[in-house]
Amino acid sequence: MVVGEVWEAGDAYEAYVGRWSRRVAARFVPSLGVPAKVGWLDVGCGTGVLSAAVLALAEPARVTGIDPSRGFLSSARVAVPGVGYAVADARHLPFADGTFGAVVSGLALNFVPGTARAIAESARVAAPGAVVAAYVWDYAEGMELMRYFWDAALLLDPAIAGLDEGLRFPLCRPGALRAAWEDAGLLGVTVAPVDVPTPFASFDDYWLPFLGGQGSAPAYVATLSASHREALREELRHRLPDGAFELTARAWAVRGVR
Ligand SMILES: C[S@@+](CC[C@H](N)C(=O)[O-])C[C@H]1O[C@@H](n2cnc3c(N)ncnc32)[C@H](O)[C@@H]1O
Repeated sequence: MVVGEVWEAGDAYEAYVGRWSRRVAARFVPSLGVPAKVGWLDVGCGTGVLSAAVLALAEPARVTGIDPSRGFLSSARVAVPGVGYAVADARHLPFADGTFGAVVSGLALNFVPGTARAIAESARVAAPGAVVAAYVWDYAEGMELMRYFWDAALLLDPAIAGLDEGLRFPLCRPGALRAAWEDAGLLGVTVAPVDVPTPFASFDDYWLPFLGGQGSAPAYVATLSASHREALREELRHRLPDGAFELTARAWAVRGVR
């Protein structure tokens, strides 16, 4: 089975991942050590989660966000004004060499076919000495809300093993991230975990965002029959605590210097 990503509806994205991405962004931006008053580029900015953290925490001269999703950019323009948004692809950035004082990306690079090209483009548009950094989910282990999902989904249908993001995205491991950054010629490369709590008020607070269609797991749910969807829901309900509960979401953050 082939199920791609869907990135279009900003509200559904917020409930599924945006609310957790925001917590990672708030830890990631200050950790980069970027000086105030520089221009930032947010690659794969989506609904503007990471751009908002840059505006709030980094005293930027200006922030530019690019993304191929017009739907997400429409949400971003409303939710996070003050950013210069453009429809563009990470592999073909419409900027001159050395334009930005910092180039960042949140939860996006693993979705770009030909990631090496995208990282090379990020390095190209960074000024000499600028930070180039990104974070991606630790799909294989520490991103627990998705791990619970795929472990339950695989139990019900082992044939979908290829959809598991832990297998699909080999970039999202510390060694692979480091190698990708070093291959792009970036210097002083570091990789570190960013762990954030993901508190859920109830099982429905966990489950309902999977019905929103945005992202890999929700796109898979949208393909299921009503009975299979109900079986998956029951399997997850069985595995997760009753009432309010908390999981952890781990992202891997990689940082280098142009
Ligand atoms: C999980 S969302 C992350 C959005 C946002 N950065 C955040 O942290 O919430 C992944 C984003 O990658 C974008 N994306 C997918 N393919 C891309 C490409 N080739 N170039 C740039 N962005 C891409 C999607 O449109 C989507 O907005």
